[in-house]
Amino acid sequence: MSTIPEEKTLDNSLQLLREGFPFLHSRFQRFQSDIFKTRLMMQNVICLHGEEATKLFYDPEKFMRLGAIPKRIQKTLMGENGIQTLDGEEHRKRKAMFMSLMTRPQVTKVANLAADYWWSAIGKWEKMDQVKLFDEVQDLLCRVACQWSGVPLPEKDVRKRAQDFGDMVDGFGGVGPRHWKGKKARRRGEKWIMEFVEDVRAGKIYVAEDTPARTILFYRDTNGKLLDTYIAAVELMNILRPIVAIATYITFGALAMHTYPECRQKLQANEDNYAELFVQEVRRFYPFGPFLGNRVRQDFEWRGHHFKKGTLVFLDMYGALHDPKIWEHPDDFRPERFRTWDESPYNFIPQGGGDHYTGHRCAGERITIEVMKVAAIFMTHFMDYQLPPQDLSFSLVRMPTLPKSGFVMRNVRRIQ
Ligand code: HEM
Repeated sequence: MSTIPEEKTLDNSLQLLREGFPFLHSRFQRFQSDIFKTRLMMQNVICLHGEEATKLFYDPEKFMRLGAIPKRIQKTLMGENGIQTLDGEEHRKRKAMFMSLMTRPQVTKVANLAADYWWSAIGKWEKMDQVKLFDEVQDLLCRVACQWSGVPLPEKDVRKRAQDFGDMVDGFGGVGPRHWKGKKARRRGEKWIMEFVEDVRAGKIYVAEDTPARTILFYRDTNGKLLDTYIAAVELMNILRPIVAIATYITFGALAMHTYPECRQKLQANEDNYAELFVQEVRRFYPFGPFLGNRVRQDFEWRGHHFKKGTLVFLDMYGALHDPKIWEHPDDFRPERFRTWDESPYNFIPQGGGDHYTGHRCAGERITIEVMKVAAIFMTHFMDYQLPPQDLSFSLVRMPTLPKSGFVMRNVRRIQ
C-alpha cells in the first residue's frame, strides 16, 4: 500500500481562500503527485488531479454527494438539499427531469430568446455613455431565464433579481461581507420563488405546459410526491441562477476578443463553426469553478492508495483545464485546439465531467455553450464599440473571478 503524500497542517481553509485557484495546483506540483492529502474545514481531504482521477471521481459505486457540499456553499450558491446533494435513484430520477428541459428544441428556444434580448440591449446601449457588459448581460440573461422558465419578471425587478443571482454565485468563495451578501440574496430569491411555487400550485398563476417551471413544480419524486415548496424553489433556481451566471463566461469571452484580436477576426468570418471552438476555449482558459467535492461511499483501493469510507475527496477542476498532459501549451489561448479534441467526458471539465444523465455533470452545459455563441456572434457581427481605459485584469485569488472593470464599453453602435 502506498502512502498518500500529506500536508501536515491543522487546517488549510484560510490558506485556500488566500491562494485561490492555484491552491491545489501548487501542491500537486510540490508533491510531484496527482494525489495528496490535506485538511480543509477541519476534515481530512484527499485531493485528486488528472483524467484517470476524473474517471474515478465520477464512479457512483465509489463516491456519493451526501455530506460532500459544505453548508456555506448550499446557503449561498445552490440552496439546501437540491439535486447537487442527491445520490442513487433519487438523483437519477430528478436528473432525468432536469435533462428533459435540455432537449435540442429547448436549447434553441433559450438561444433564440438570448438573440432577441441582445437586439434590444444593443438598441439601449447605443443611447448610453458607458455600458458595463457584465451587469448588462446579467440583466439580459435574467430576462431570458425567467421568460424561458415561465417565471414572471416585472421590468422594475430585473436588476434586483439579476444582482441577487449574481451575488449567490459570488458569495461561494467569500468570507465575511461577501458571503453574507450571498446568503441574503439567496434568502430573498428563495422567498420570491417560493411564493411563485405556492401561487402556481394554488392555481393563482398559470404557467404554460411546456415550461421548465411547470415541469419542476409538478415533478413527482421517487415516492410519487411533489417536491416540497422549498425544494421546488431551489430546483427552479437551479436553472435560473446558472443562466444568469453565463454572464461571467460572456465577459471573459469579450476579454478574449480584446486580448486576441485575431480570434475576433475569425469570429467575424465564423468559418467551420469557429464560434463553437472559441467558446469552448473560453470555458477552458478562464477560471470559474476551482474544484468539486465527493465523499467515499465505501472503502476501496486505487493505484495502491486506500480511500476510507466517509473521506472527503476534491477533484481539481481548474488545474485539469490547464494540464499540459491534456492540453498542449495550456497557457496559450487557442480555440483551434478543439478541432481535434477527442470529446472525452473526463478531460474537459469546466462544468464537471462524466455523464450528464447518470452523474452530476452540469445539466446546462449545452445551454451555456449556445448562449455564449449568441453573445460572441452579436459582439462581432452586429455591434461595434470602443473600450475606454480600464482595469481588465482578473485575480486568481478571488473565487469566483472576473475582469475587474466588468468590461466597460463606449460608443456602442449597432451594425448591419
Ligand atoms: C451542475 C458549472 C450553467 C444547471 C454543475 C456543476 C458545475 C456547474 C461545476 C457540478 C458538476 C458536478 O458536480 O459534477 C456551471 C457553470 C455554468 C453552468 C460554470 C455556466 C456559467 C448551467 C446552466 C444550467 C445549469 C445554464 C441550467 C440551465 C445545473 C444543474 C446542475 C449543475 C441542474 C446539477 C447537476 C447534478 O447535480 O446532477 N454546473 N453550470 N448549469 N448545473 Fe451547471
